[in-house]
Amino acid sequence: MENFTFYSPTFFAFGKDTENQAGEYVKRFGGTKVLIHYGGGSVIRSGLLDRVKASIEREGLSYVELGGVKPNPRSGLVYEGIDLCKKEGVDFILAVGGGSTIDSSKAIAAGTIYDGDFWDFYQGKRIENALPVGTILTIAAAGSEGSPDSVITKEEGMLKRGASGDAIRPKFSILNPALTQTLPAYQTASGATDIMAHLYERYLTNSKDVEVTDRLIEALLLTMKHETPRVIADPDNYEARANIMWAGMMAHNNSCGVGRSQDWNSHNIEHELSALYDCAHGAGLAVTMPAVFKYVMNHDVMRFAKVAVRVWGCQMDFDHPEVTALEGIEAFRNFLISIGMPKNFEELGAKKEDIPKLVEVLCRGDGRDGTISGFVTLDEDDCTMIYEMMV
Ligand code: NZQ
Ligand code: ZN
Repeated sequence: MENFTFYSPTFFAFGKDTENQAGEYVKRFGGTKVLIHYGGGSVIRSGLLDRVKASIEREGLSYVELGGVKPNPRSGLVYEGIDLCKKEGVDFILAVGGGSTIDSSKAIAAGTIYDGDFWDFYQGKRIENALPVGTILTIAAAGSEGSPDSVITKEEGMLKRGASGDAIRPKFSILNPALTQTLPAYQTASGATDIMAHLYERYLTNSKDVEVTDRLIEALLLTMKHETPRVIADPDNYEARANIMWAGMMAHNNSCGVGRSQDWNSHNIEHELSALYDCAHGAGLAVTMPAVFKYVMNHDVMRFAKVAVRVWGCQMDFDHPEVTALEGIEAFRNFLISIGMPKNFEELGAKKEDIPKLVEVLCRGDGRDGTISGFVTLDEDDCTMIYEMMV
C-alpha cells in the first residue's frame, strides 16, 4: 500500500424527509445569504424546491435562485452564477439536484471569490478557496456530494474538463433516497453505471497488496449488481435506492481509492463523448468501459480474472486466466445492457467518422502530450483503436 492522506469532512444527513433540515444545516455551516442552484426543472415538478425554500425561510435566511443547469453543465451558467453571487453578496451555495448541479455550484463557489477566470481551475490550477457548498442530492451517480471534484464543459470548443480542491468538498450533503424515485429508468441506470465505473477506475491499479480497498470495491460492486436490477424493476423500492445512494457516495469519496494508483482512462475517454454528443455520462461509460478493459486487460490479466470470479461469479481457469478475465468483462457488459444501457456508438448517438476529432481533443487538447495515463499509458493510436472497438 502506498502512503496517503485522507480528508473527507462532509457532514451527511441520510434518510427520509432530511431535505426539510436544509435551512438548519446552511445556518450551522455559516450561510446567511444563499444561492439555491438547480437544474432543468425536476426539483420544481417534484415539489422539492418549495420544501427547501420553506426550510431556509424557517431559519430566517435569505436566498436568491438560479435554475437551468444542464446535464454536462456549461461554463456560461457558471459565469452567470458568479455575477449573481457577487451582486447579491451570497455567502453559501446550495445545490439541489444531481452531479451536474453540484458541479456547477462548486464552480460558482470557487469563481465568486477568485479574481481571475474560473476556467483557470479547469486547466490545472488547484482550488484553494471557495464559498461553502451544501448539496441536496436527487440522483445517485456522480458522487460529487462527497468529492472534491467538479466537471464543467466550456461551450467554446466543447471542452469537458475537471477541477479539484478540498475547498469545494461539500460542507454537508443531504441524501434522501426517496428523492431519487422520480428518476426515469434510463437516468437511474446511467447513475448506477457511473457508480460502478468509479469503482472500476480504482480497482484497476498498479499498486500491490491493497487487499482492504480491493475488498471494499468488490463489496460495493456486488451491492450495485444486486440492487440495480431491483430498482429498475421497481422504481419505488426505497431500500434498494438507499443502498445504491450510499454506495454512490462510498464509490467516489475515495475511501476505496486510498493507498493505490488509479486508472481514470475510461472517464477521460468518455468525457469526450458526453462533451461532443451531450449523452449521459453513465451511458457513455457503459459503451467505453468494456472496450477499454478488453484493450488493456493483458497488462494485468489476473486483476481482471479476480474481479470476474469475485464479482461476476465466473469460474477461474488457471491455465487460461485471460479467458476468465474476458468472461468477467462480458458479464459486466451484459449486465449494463440488461439495465438498459447502450452497447455501441450507434445506440449512444456517436459517429465513427468523429473518431479522429475525439482522439485529437482527448490526447492533444489543453496542451496534452499525445497520451493519457492511468492503469496503462495510452497514445493516440491506442485511443483510436479503443473508440473503434466501441463502434
Ligand atoms: O436537470 P433536471 O431537471 O433536474 O433533470 C436531471 C437531468 O436531466 C435528471 N434528474 C436528476 N434527479 C432527478 C432527475 N429527474 C427526475 N427525478 C430526479 N430525482 O437527471 C438528469 C441527469 O442529471 P445530472 O445532474 O446530469 O446527473 P449526474 O448526477 O449523473 O451528473 C452527471 C455529471 O457529473 C459529472 C459528469 O461528467 C456529468 O457532467 N461527474 C462529476 C464527478 C464529480 N464531480 O466528482 C465525477 C463523475 O465521474 C462525473 O464525471
Ligand atoms: Zn463518473
